[in-house]
Formats: sequence, structure tokens, C-alpha cells
Amino acid sequence: MKRRIGILTSGGDCPGLNACIRGVARASYSQFDTTILGIQDGYAGLISGDYKEMKQSDFSGILTLGGTILGTRRTPFRDMRVIGEDNVDKVKSMKENYKKMKLDCLVCLGGNGTHKTANLLSEEGLNVIGLPKTIDNDIWGTDVTFGFHTAVDIATEVIDRIHTTAASHGRCMVIEIMGNKAGWLTLYSGIAGGADIILLPEIPYDIDIVADAVRRRAEAGKDFSIVAVAEGAMTVQEAAMKKKERAAFREETGFSGIAARIAKELEAKVGVEARAVVPGHVQRGGTPSAYDRMLSTVFGVHAAQLIAKEEYGQAVAMIGNKVGHNPLSEVAGKTKFVPQDAQAVKAARSMGISLGDK
Ligand code: F6P
Repeated sequence: MKRRIGILTSGGDCPGLNACIRGVARASYSQFDTTILGIQDGYAGLISGDYKEMKQSDFSGILTLGGTILGTRRTPFRDMRVIGEDNVDKVKSMKENYKKMKLDCLVCLGGNGTHKTANLLSEEGLNVIGLPKTIDNDIWGTDVTFGFHTAVDIATEVIDRIHTTAASHGRCMVIEIMGNKAGWLTLYSGIAGGADIILLPEIPYDIDIVADAVRRRAEAGKDFSIVAVAEGAMTVQEAAMKKKERAAFREETGFSGIAARIAKELEAKVGVEARAVVPGHVQRGGTPSAYDRMLSTVFGVHAAQLIAKEEYGQAVAMIGNKVGHNPLSEVAGKTKFVPQDAQAVKAARSMGISLGDK
């Protein structure tokens, strides 16, 4: 059995991409006669024809390496069918390059946008497999994505370190955790780091309720507070606005980030000294945790098994603690948000952590 496999990483990078690439490669080389073509910078490389034949040795020594050896780009799905100033028909080019590379299949490692384009290519007749990476953990149909738990570890360490400086100064520290649409990373690291207030995009907050929570702590003799806020969190008022309206409102009111705004408001409302902390892309950098090395490896191996069986048009997933897959057509276009009744949400509330809504 012979297989020519194209592989690409698309969207924001995360720890575990290389471990997953390695999993696909090693399981393929050991199961069938394999040729792997590495496509540079995600779909951008598939469009422009930037790829190279990989050697087996290219996949050695990359298990612990952060980022991606293939490079990555954001090539938005919404533009895929739009012909821009460069006059390039992106979908046509991707199909032509797939043919030129004589691929039996294309393996796409990425998040929601990547899976949408993977599905588009599958609908266009290419053999495609998706692999779920993102620190946001928001891909539909999988219990967990690789990269998420490493980011939880990093964000938790940030909160831990902030704790000691917050306590020493008697300050309110507002830490902005990545996650624009989904609050998984903030919820998990907030609980793990012992945050007092956790604000998620899925649960719009009221700043007066947040201020009350800080005040109550002060009254109970705790002169410091930790707020973990997702970068995409919003007030009840903002949540009622359309996206454009919200952007305009924020511009008018001099918005420069959610943590900065909340810190300023808490100083004004409670009279505490507050600071905003934005760890940013640190949360996506560096070596994957042992858990993510394991998860991305088993995901990669599962992709190789699908290739062996010629079972294409699938997105690899963890389903009820078992590695499996869902049709790409079912995954594409959906987001796995934090449900209001998520176990971790209920646990946070039961412990008296304020989620800013009641
Ligand atoms: O999707 C991962 C993520 O880190 C999000 O949490 C964040 O909102 C976004 O990417 C940041 O994107 P960029 O790296 O393009 O600034």
C-alpha cells in the first residue's frame, strides 16, 4: 500500500503541533509505503504551491518542540472563495496543487477556521483529514483539543505568580486570558489558579456585581483579589449589541483591552489599587505538556489509521475519552462554547467564585 500525504498547519500555532505531525508521520511510515509533502504556512502554501518532500529524519527530535516546523498563517475561510487583487482563485489553486503533488490525501492541523476550509476542500472532492488543535478548546465534537492543557498550565502559572504579588501589595489583579469566543481556558486556569472572579464570553458580566465581589472580599479581611477574564468577555449591555455596534461602542469609549477596562472600573468603583496583566501569546508558546504530547500523538496516529483505511472527510476527535472521528461536514462552522451548566461552571459557582452575573 502506497500513500502520498500532504500535511499542513493552519491558524494560530499551539504546543503539540509538531508532536502531532510526528505522530501522523511515524505511524504512517510504519504502516505503509509513505511519502510526506510538507506544505509551508498552512493553506497559503497550498494556494501558492510552496511545499517540499520531507525526509523521515525531518520528523525526529520534534516531539517536545513548540510551534510548528511547517509554519502557519491565518488564511480566513471567508476569503477562500473571494478573488482578491492578486486575481488568484484560491480554491482552484489548492485543487491544482493537490493534483500536482499527486496526493492521496491532505492532513490539516488547525482550529475552527482550518476545519471549515478542510470541509470545503473535501466537498470539492479532495481527500482530507482534520486534526483538532487550539488553546481555545472550542472545536465542536471533541472533548478536548491539543494545545489546550499546555495553555491551561501556562495561564495557571501566571495566576499563581500574580497571587503572591497581589497579596503583598493588597491589590486587585485582573488577568486577561486568551479566548475570544470561548472561555474554556479562562475557566480552567481560573479555577486551577484560585481566581476569585472568573469572566467568560459566554456569561456576560455586570461590573457592579464584579465590584461587589471585590468589596465582599475586602469586608471579609482579604485585601487582594484575582480576576481571570477572557479576552472576549463582555458586559450584559455589550452582549445585547451586534458585533459592529459593540466595536463602535468600544472605540468611542476608548477601549484598550478588557482587563485594562475592568481594572480601571474597579479602582473607580471600589477604591482598590488595580493592575491589568496580559500574558498574551506566552500562553501559546514553548514545549507541550506531557498530556498534550500524548494527546497529539494519539490523534496523529489515528489520522494515519484513517489514511490506511482511506476513510477521508473526517475530523479526528476525543469522544467520551476515546479517540475517534466525526465527519468534517458536521464539525465545520460550529463552535464548542462553554455551556451555562458545564460542570466547571457549576463547581465555580458552588465555591463562591463570582462569574460576574449574579
Ligand atoms: O485561536 C487561538 C488564539 O490564541 C485565541 O485565543 C486568540 O483570540 C487568538 O488566537 C489570537 O490571534 P493572533 O495570534 O492572530 O493574535
